[in-house]
Amino acid sequence: MARRERRGLGRSRPARTGGVTGAPLGDAATDGDSATGGDAATGGDSATGPVAPGDGSSPGRRGLSRRGLFAAAAGAAGAAAVGTGGFAAGRASAGGGSSPAVFFGEHQAGIVTPAQDRLHFAAFDVSSSASRENLIELLQDWTDAAARLVRGLDVTEEGAVGGPALKPPDDTGEALGLGASGLTLTFGLGPTLFRDRDGTDRFGLADRKPELLAELPHFSGDQLDAALSGGDLCIQACADDPQVAVHAIRNLSRIAFGRASLRWSQLGFGRTSSTSTAQQTPRNLFGFKDGTANIKAEETGTVDAQVWVGEDDGPDWLVGGSYLVTRKIRMTIEIWDRQSLDEQERVIGRDKGEGAPLSGGGEITEPAFSALGPDGRGIDVDAHVRLAHPTSNDGAKLLRRGYNYVDGNDALGTLDAGLFFIAYQRDPVAQFTAMQRRLAGSDLLNEYITHVSSGVFAIAPGIREGQHIAQALFED
Ligand code: HEM
Repeated sequence: MARRERRGLGRSRPARTGGVTGAPLGDAATDGDSATGGDAATGGDSATGPVAPGDGSSPGRRGLSRRGLFAAAAGAAGAAAVGTGGFAAGRASAGGGSSPAVFFGEHQAGIVTPAQDRLHFAAFDVSSSASRENLIELLQDWTDAAARLVRGLDVTEEGAVGGPALKPPDDTGEALGLGASGLTLTFGLGPTLFRDRDGTDRFGLADRKPELLAELPHFSGDQLDAALSGGDLCIQACADDPQVAVHAIRNLSRIAFGRASLRWSQLGFGRTSSTSTAQQTPRNLFGFKDGTANIKAEETGTVDAQVWVGEDDGPDWLVGGSYLVTRKIRMTIEIWDRQSLDEQERVIGRDKGEGAPLSGGGEITEPAFSALGPDGRGIDVDAHVRLAHPTSNDGAKLLRRGYNYVDGNDALGTLDAGLFFIAYQRDPVAQFTAMQRRLAGSDLLNEYITHVSSGVFAIAPGIREGQHIAQALFED
């Protein structure tokens, strides 16, 4: 297995078989990215063109395990036997939804897929009594169910209304008629899956743990809630309809019954990033355009250099995958709202109306850190965009895919609101951690934000038809 050395950001990287030739991270900030990434239009993340989703009924493809089916029909023990037939029937992808996402391919969907409007993110703990076989069976069951859900189908053929009247339905039914709504499901594996906090290798995976998959260090100002952080497994469900995303997490949690349970979850409304040049830049809850300088799907050179794990990165089972960092960042909205427009713009380093850098130009003009704009203002030494810019971070970038959240209000009557920050990258140490160290040190934004939860996950590569999530992890 090719294991790379701890890399500086200027390292070189050999060409990938069948993919786009990789570039060092340092080059990616300035490379001329080709705009040929057609995947963005289809919602698939495959760099080599999406694999047709098929109907999942090919020989050898299975339905949910009996255990998964019984779990889905929670409490149905002793009920009439349930069928495990093919995938042809069930809820059709009818009505109201945007086109279904591609599920099978070289990379998982939900990363460079144009960011949908809604999020339900969930982290799971695998049961202390689960065996390695139980874990594999769960990943098989999730794969089978997910391949159906992203096509707007119920989790099984019997689904919400097609089963015996005396048995709880396999599918909970709240997404009937909503269609696929652009649903993507992205699966990740946390460090504790490989070795739990007591050091126990529960599933015989410890020697397969990626070197870079480790709990993030403590950053200055962190006020993390352990109950809202970490997790053995995670699922990111993104869709253009909130109920479709919630339905997916609800039913996948149900299928996990007895093998894994929800540790924490987060709803997000309103994307805070564009991941395609075809998308307009949305706004975060501070009212600023967010995602302007994000990595876009069409920048295939940068995506390859900064997002996907390459062949020389190791471990082999993760090639074509990525690393996900999640941070729930509480924003003190009321204090921010009392700042002058001038101060708000100084903190970010861009103007609020157009999102242009204070050094001048329009939204997509590159910031010029030593220049003054037409109104005589420059970009503060501690402005957010200066500290987060690749020139301050050895060329490192992130593919940001976060969502606004409002979880009601606290006892003082202030909004419990903020940004559920999601970032994909090829190396969480050289990318997120290095950047967050810099931001935690002196970012002007720190006066208005607090990080309250944290997660890091290895994102398995794309799933091939007939295989399950992270299958290569379990193979010799
Ligand atoms: C609530 C917290 C945050 C808010 C409100 C926020 C807001 C913004 C805004 C308004 C921009 C400018 C528009 C854009 O290019 O997207 C920006 C850029 C950026 N932010 Fe944040 N951000 C937050 C947290 C973070 C964190 C935790 C990181 C990473 C550790 C980060 C990394 C970046 C990066 C890489 C850029 C692009 C910089 C560039 O290349 O110009 N942000 N952010």
